[in-house]
Amino acid sequence: MINNRNKDYTNIKMNNKQTDFVKKVFSEVPTTYERTNHVLTLGFDTIWRKKTAKIAASHGGTEWVDMCTGTGEMAAYLSRLAPQGTNVSAVDLSSEMMAEASKKLEAENIKFFEADVKDLPFEDGSIDLITISFATRNINLNKKALVKSFSEFRRVLKQGGRFVNLETSQPPSYMIRKLFHLFVKLFVKQVGSRISGSINGYLYLSKTIPKFYTAKELADIMYQAGFQHITFKRLLFGVAAIHQGTKL
Ligand SMILES: C[S@@+](CC[C@H](N)C(=O)[O-])C[C@H]1O[C@@H](n2cnc3c(N)ncnc32)[C@H](O)[C@@H]1O
Repeated sequence: MINNRNKDYTNIKMNNKQTDFVKKVFSEVPTTYERTNHVLTLGFDTIWRKKTAKIAASHGGTEWVDMCTGTGEMAAYLSRLAPQGTNVSAVDLSSEMMAEASKKLEAENIKFFEADVKDLPFEDGSIDLITISFATRNINLNKKALVKSFSEFRRVLKQGGRFVNLETSQPPSYMIRKLFHLFVKLFVKQVGSRISGSINGYLYLSKTIPKFYTAKELADIMYQAGFQHITFKRLLFGVAAIHQGTKL
């Protein structure tokens, strides 16, 4: 049964073609999404989300938000780590993905918002911590658009608030990068679509991975959005990276 207790679904206008496309893609995969990721990453996605949640939770504060939460894995890890008195929220465009998130045990401690992260339902300077995992690629691949979205994150963060981003990246080694892209080309679409039944979904996901930014480029995008003290940590030869930035 789906737990609707803490949902505060803020309906938004869907007038953007790309947003509609992303919404459609993710409406097709919620029940198989986590299993597919675990198979495709050999379980590394879970290790990386837990690591990111631990880093994020260490910054303290009482208002934490996981953006593009999907099936809510990161929000669930945050909620396990949250000290008493901390409010954990989760935002996503897809009610189908969040319906899956609502089935998690931790969901009763998470407040869900159906919203576009480009137009957040939070006051200026009201949030201590923002996390996002494996979704920055889906917001927009265009640099200008990403700067704009990250600026929206910055708007809602308090001064001193932290933004922690986990995303696929580009290994600095040419050979490893080529092997990684080959793996994505051969497996993500085929295996992803077979497990999930969504051919379009995993075709789209497999195409965005090789096009995404290097760790340094993403750090620069965060900087252009106004974040400071930006650091990043590459994971597994750089196939993924955890970025952190602060609103000063
Ligand atoms: C690849 S999933 C990642 C889910 C989850 N964060 C994880 O770690 O697995 C991308 C999610 O981002 C959501 N999404 C994409 N663009 C969005 C936007 N502009 N606003 C809100 N959610 C968005 C999708 O609906 C989807 O649930």
